[in-house]
Amino acid sequence: MNYHIMTLFPEMMEKCLGESIIGRALRAGLISVDIVNIRDHADPGRKGRVDDYPFGGGAGMVMQAGPIDRAYQSIRAGLDHDPRVIYLTPQGRVFDQPMARELAAEEDLVFLCGHYEGVDERIIEKIVTDNVSIGDYVLTGGELPALVMIDAISRMVPGVLSNAESGEEESFSDGLLEYPQYTRPADYQGMKVPDILLSGDHAKVAAWRREQSLLRTRERRPDLLK
Ligand code: ADE
Repeated sequence: MNYHIMTLFPEMMEKCLGESIIGRALRAGLISVDIVNIRDHADPGRKGRVDDYPFGGGAGMVMQAGPIDRAYQSIRAGLDHDPRVIYLTPQGRVFDQPMARELAAEEDLVFLCGHYEGVDERIIEKIVTDNVSIGDYVLTGGELPALVMIDAISRMVPGVLSNAESGEEESFSDGLLEYPQYTRPADYQGMKVPDILLSGDHAKVAAWRREQSLLRTRERRPDLLK
């Protein structure tokens, strides 16, 4: 999996991606990240500025098409196919686990992180294949949503999670929320671990966990049961 990120804040992306399981996957060569600073593709004479006033007036600035187009062409030149290009926007389809699984099968993914009040619509029409939102709230830019997506997609890439970390038995893998987990001590300030988990009866433990998953999903996310 090769990620290509077009952004105005490359340091932010680099720092976050170097840590934890994603950092380990990068060092192991299971994923790669190529960060393209849109400012490096600014119009000549604009000293790295890539935004301008909106036609028709109104508050805020709009990111210009040209710098994003050139940033994208610099990525495309290194590939032998047209990659999926994801634009992070609250106007997109809402990201979920099935989408993470689907995108994990791609060879390359390009992310366009927008800022200011928006991005010139013409570059979205020209290069974007998927408009994606990470939820119904408005963030200041597309960097955090891109990081959220890269985290969720990467853990679906074969080899990224160890067997112990494997995503088989967890929230959403079967459309349900995960059951509660406990570790030592068995008695924490008078709060006891459910007896069944100490019983050693694997079939009973499995049945209890399934029931807890269902109860938890019905209580917290009844929409998932539909
Ligand atoms: N950019 C700003 N808000 C966003 C959101 N909720 N999802 C994706 N991109 C965004």
